[in-house]
Amino acid sequence: MLKEELTEALNDQMNYEFYSAHVYMAIAAYCSAESLDGFANFFIVQAEEERFHAMKLYKYLNDRGKRATLSGFAAPQNEYDSMLDAFEHAFAHEQEVTRRIYHLSDLAMNDREHATIQFLKWFIDEQVEEEAMFDSIIHKLKRIDKDSNAFFMMDAEFAQRTFTPPAAE
Ligand code: FEO
Repeated sequence: MLKEELTEALNDQMNYEFYSAHVYMAIAAYCSAESLDGFANFFIVQAEEERFHAMKLYKYLNDRGKRATLSGFAAPQNEYDSMLDAFEHAFAHEQEVTRRIYHLSDLAMNDREHATIQFLKWFIDEQVEEEAMFDSIIHKLKRIDKDSNAFFMMDAEFAQRTFTPPAAE
């Protein structure tokens, strides 16, 4: 039986994952407005991943006999100074997601909620990957000029990104 505080925190994280999709769609719209369609695609795919994360939590709450409750959220940041600025914003957002997942894990461990501890391990691994991905792109963006061939090659590369749900899901 999931305790109330843990249930609320799982529900809150489901909403935060939907909010994350909203944050990344706002960045995608900024990229589209800058005619950087590959970067826009990167963030549209990222938003799809976030909805997938939210749905994992939605299904988990249902599987545990709890009801998922949807909330509203604040408007995301829509304007950015540069693509580097946008990726730094995304990286900071992922660090906040990680902090929240760790807090959820702490609650689950306090409750000795082994099924939830196990469930959250997937998210902990996912956050390592997400932070590493954004960190790596930021390092590349810092090395290249925004009008260089390398920058437009990145845009072309990101146009190829697709969302494939993990096979086991
Ligand atoms: Fe669902 Fe990017 O954290």
